[in-house]
Amino acid sequence: MIKLVVDGRELKVEEGTVLLDACLDQGICIPHLCHLKGTEEPHASCRLCFVEIEGMGKPLPSCTVKVRDAMVMKTDTPGVRELQISALRFLLSVHDVDCAHCPANKKCALQNMARCLHVGLKAKGLEACLKEPRVVEDHPLIDYYPNRCVLCARCVRICLARNGLPQMTFAKRGFVTVVSFYGATASSSCRDCLGCIEVYPVGALVLREKDSA
Ligand code: FES
Repeated sequence: MIKLVVDGRELKVEEGTVLLDACLDQGICIPHLCHLKGTEEPHASCRLCFVEIEGMGKPLPSCTVKVRDAMVMKTDTPGVRELQISALRFLLSVHDVDCAHCPANKKCALQNMARCLHVGLKAKGLEACLKEPRVVEDHPLIDYYPNRCVLCARCVRICLARNGLPQMTFAKRGFVTVVSFYGATASSSCRDCLGCIEVYPVGALVLREKDSA
C-alpha cells in the first residue's frame, strides 16, 4: 500500500491503482464519463476528470494517472472546475435534454455531474445542435439515440472486451460521429451480453421492449 493526499485527506491505496479509481473508491467525487474500470488503456475523451497534482504544471485527467507514493493532489480548485464546466457545457450543447422521456432520468451521469458542478442542464450561451435521425433502429434489440450519446466509447470498449470481435464501432467524424452496429443482424452474443447497455452512463442505448428478432 502507498499513501497519497487528496484535498488534505490521507488515503492508503494499492500501488498502481488508477488515480480516478482510488478517489472514487474512497467516496471522493470526481466528474467522469468515459472511464471504464479495469480497462488497460484510458480513453480520456470526456475531459471531465481533471485534478491538480503537486509538481505537475497543469491539471491532468485522473483516469490517465497511476497513483504514486506521497502524491499530493486537489480535486476542486478553480482551474479544475473551469475545465470540467467547459467540458460539461459542451456535452450539454449537443445533448437532447428531454429527461422526462429518457430511461436514464434520475440515474444519468450527466444529471449527476451537472448537479455536482452547479451547471444547468440547458446550456446557456451555446446554440443547441442536434443530429438527425433522433433514433436509429438498425440493431435488432437496441435502439440508439444519437442526441443522448456522449461518445464516451464505454459501449464499444466493453463490447470488444467481452466479444473479441466487437458488434459496434464509431462511424462518421466530427459533430456527426455516431455509434454504429455495422448494420447489425440478430446476434445471439448481443442477446446474452448487453454489456453496452450495462455500462452506458446515459440513456442513448435502450433495449427495445418487444424486439422483433
Ligand atoms: S474519465 Fe477521464 S477523461 Fe473521461
